[in-house]
Amino acid sequence: MNVLGIDTTADDTCAAIVFDGYKILSNIVASQISLHRPFGGIVPQIASREHLKNIIPSIDQALNESGLSFKDIHLISVGQSPDPALSYYHIGITTAKFLAYVLNLPLVGVDHMEAHLFANFAVFRELKPPFISLTAAGGHTLLTLVRGYGDYEILGSTLDDAAGEAFDKAARILGLSYPGGPSIDEAAKEGQPGAYKFPRPMSHHRGYDFSYSGLKTAVYLKVKELKEDGGGNLSQSQTADVAAGFREAVVDSLLTKAFSAIREYNVNIFVLGGGVAANNLIRSEAESRGKRKGVKVYYPPKNLCTDNAVGTAVLGYFQYQRRGGSNIFELPYFRKSPLAKW
Ligand code: KG4
Ligand code: ZN
Repeated sequence: MNVLGIDTTADDTCAAIVFDGYKILSNIVASQISLHRPFGGIVPQIASREHLKNIIPSIDQALNESGLSFKDIHLISVGQSPDPALSYYHIGITTAKFLAYVLNLPLVGVDHMEAHLFANFAVFRELKPPFISLTAAGGHTLLTLVRGYGDYEILGSTLDDAAGEAFDKAARILGLSYPGGPSIDEAAKEGQPGAYKFPRPMSHHRGYDFSYSGLKTAVYLKVKELKEDGGGNLSQSQTADVAAGFREAVVDSLLTKAFSAIREYNVNIFVLGGGVAANNLIRSEAESRGKRKGVKVYYPPKNLCTDNAVGTAVLGYFQYQRRGGSNIFELPYFRKSPLAKW
């Protein structure tokens, strides 16, 4: 079964074709990052305009790269997001509905955060639940016990900023460019993580929730202090040290909670997904903690951590096998909550 995945839930217009939930036939991402960069975050009006411009060419390119035409597509899967206020992801959903209607194809709507998790199944065919997953992106941070496909227990989520959002805000404080995750990752390469002391968010709280507002304030105050001492400027090495210290604090807090959950729920597989899973430190640190604890760690290649429609197509395939398609006319534009059971 060839599944066309479509996703416009953030600032990338994504279209991909995946065969039987694992074989990636094409993966197109029309990035808008350079247009949002001057504003330090996603500007909804720009995202809408760009998705409108790019959606048909992206789908066309996905077909061309796969060597398929619409008659070879068996299912359309589209990303949904839990935020009804953001109108730009409606562009992907409306396009998917229209295509399903005129081509007489089944349609499924899938959760964007769950699609981040499912990108792993396209890469690791041996991967099967149960496992603990950490999906961390710009809007959500979710630590989840995945008992089976569609069978989830969210153990922890963010009380304020999502991990990706914290990277974006810390980068802004440091004068680094949007998106903050890759900029901080790059700057941190040259830094000493122990140069300044940053708090480990929520480390004294039982349970698995995350919070990054305190860490963000600590970064703000440190940068303010360094700037005052430096005549208004931050040197390159100070920027690198703050970036390295911040990155280490976020990664440590995420992985400490994740590995506690792995122990408590007695599983031996840990799966990362979402934009933050592209972080170099979280990847290497998860690997080394996994080796120490006898836990097998999975994370997708970086281009399948950040937004893509491969995970959308994979998840659509799995959902369709179990539940069939949705009513095209009634498919809602947003979801109530991420990682809901199905
Ligand atoms: O999954 P994603 O592309 O879109 C959303 O669903 O939000 O995640 C975007 C987020 C941004 O906040 C970005 O700063 C963060 O993922 N991100 C990273 C890295 N690459 C992207 N965070 C840390 N390190 C990275 N290398
Ligand atoms: Zn995403």
